[in-house]
Amino acid sequence: MCGIIGYVGDKDAVPILMNGIRRLEYRGYDSWGLAIIQGEIKLMKNTGKISESGSNSFGLKGNVGIAHTRWATHGGVTRENAHPHTSCGKEIAIVHNGIIENYQEMKKSLLAEGHKFTSQTDSEVIAHLLEKFYNKFKDIKKTLLATVKRIKGNFAFLAIFQDEPDLILGARKDSPLVIGVRKNELFFASDVLSFVEYTDKVIFLDNLEAVMAKKDSLKIFDFNGREVRKGITQVAWEAYDVSKKEFTHYTLKEIHEQSSTIKNSLYQDPIKLTKFCKSIKVAKKLFITASGTSFHAGLLARHLFSKISKVYCEAILASEFSQVMDWVDKDTVILAISQSGETADILHAVREAKEKGAKILSIVNVMSSTLDRESDLTLYLNCGPEIGVAATKSFTAQLALIYLLALTTVDEVVNINKLKRLNDYVEFILEQKNKIMNIAEKYKDSSDFYFIGRSVHHPIALEGALKLKELSYIHAEGMAAGELKHGTLALIDERTPVVVLNPKDQTYHETLSNALEMKARGAKIIGISNLNNEIYDDLILLPQIEELLYPIIEVIPLQMLAYYMAVNRGADVDRPRNLAKSVTVK
Ligand code: M6R
Repeated sequence: MCGIIGYVGDKDAVPILMNGIRRLEYRGYDSWGLAIIQGEIKLMKNTGKISESGSNSFGLKGNVGIAHTRWATHGGVTRENAHPHTSCGKEIAIVHNGIIENYQEMKKSLLAEGHKFTSQTDSEVIAHLLEKFYNKFKDIKKTLLATVKRIKGNFAFLAIFQDEPDLILGARKDSPLVIGVRKNELFFASDVLSFVEYTDKVIFLDNLEAVMAKKDSLKIFDFNGREVRKGITQVAWEAYDVSKKEFTHYTLKEIHEQSSTIKNSLYQDPIKLTKFCKSIKVAKKLFITASGTSFHAGLLARHLFSKISKVYCEAILASEFSQVMDWVDKDTVILAISQSGETADILHAVREAKEKGAKILSIVNVMSSTLDRESDLTLYLNCGPEIGVAATKSFTAQLALIYLLALTTVDEVVNINKLKRLNDYVEFILEQKNKIMNIAEKYKDSSDFYFIGRSVHHPIALEGALKLKELSYIHAEGMAAGELKHGTLALIDERTPVVVLNPKDQTYHETLSNALEMKARGAKIIGISNLNNEIYDDLILLPQIEELLYPIIEVIPLQMLAYYMAVNRGADVDRPRNLAKSVTVK
């Protein structure tokens, strides 16, 4: 995780870097810092959120600089552990995103050689290695190559040298690094979002590539020192619109955007869509992999591919993918689902599967993300940047696209048309804001919540619980409704709210019976249904839609419930504690 940005050009780098890390804060937000060349290397770092720091300059000024926003992995949240980190004499400063796996042995030998460390981070070894090799070679390129060969793990880092005041260097392995290009200016960052207001011309560095740049010269080479020629991609500015509009939080704005994003996810290139569906249909072995919310979409995909497309498949958490790796071969298709396309667990699973000959299909939101570029075929969610750490609009976009895939495999035109009109019903849910706010107020002091649903509603129950935990910090569990009686019922009493996903479909009566079992133990039942029933203490009404499609719509009240619970409890909705939007470490 963490976000990095660097700038070299003819403007003052400080406000550009500050704006940049503000936009990267979704990647981590426990501390931040920047380094600038102003005759010598000047540093500014602090704990806390960058968005809460008042100044945009700190009296610093310079044309070359680097900055960082942190999500702590090695070492606590302290000013010392905040990046940039420097060499012993502070002549070199670095910012790093990723994990240096061999930092302990590196640190030990550097300490033995007399280097002085000032932080507990793994990242600081990069500054000292650069210092060691620069003292040895007095040549920047050799220094950079020797350093990247020594470090193991995943990294994207940027460095500046006091002795080379016009220069910025960087390298990446398994963590993203992109370059923004404008006349006499270059921007380096973890993602395009951080500099898109200055340029839409982008070079995507590939794995195991390094860069050395001055404002008017850019050299990219592989880790063996061979120069690499790269094309410039023009990205769509509007795809990076990150204004909050009239909403108090990005999360709320993104929940509301679902009235258009569900439909946008269905605009797919018909040729690509057909190819994608064919690969699913003919796969001898199909594994779906993802993490967190995207995994819940993957669970629904397994269900729909099996029931509608008649394709047997498995959904495996990306972090657990090694369990099935022995079964992956050239006859295997992997469907990877990820909003960011940068989740380390997913990339790891996909890369290993690819080495074994598997075909990689992916569903991502962020175009040109690592997963997108490493896949054989990608479909995009087209839902615009999702800034709130909690996935909301990307989840319903994933669900809608998965329905489209399943229905297309069997040419179910009638249901595809119903799917395309589904976004019209989002407003019906949003209009129940006051009711949902009242429910949130009523249960805001609860310590445990349960979410239950059967069949296609089970992944939504899991997602409802994840949203509530992540946003409001209340313990919550999502369960298959039929499983309660196998143990969890022991925890249910008159203090327990239970959210029951129960639209009128073939699961309705059985789920209602499970809800009654809980009601009999005193639970407070919050029904999510298109049909009222006296057993519900509260009901959030769903619109009358094609019953097959309820999962896409029924998750929206759960997102709203989690949102208003979080607001009531004073939680930081857009940036929940301890989390980051892109989990780029394993
Ligand atoms: O970017 P991805 O979809 O790969 O992210 C996967 C998870 O980290 C993500 O869905 C996470 O669970 C969300 N914060 C949940 O709201």
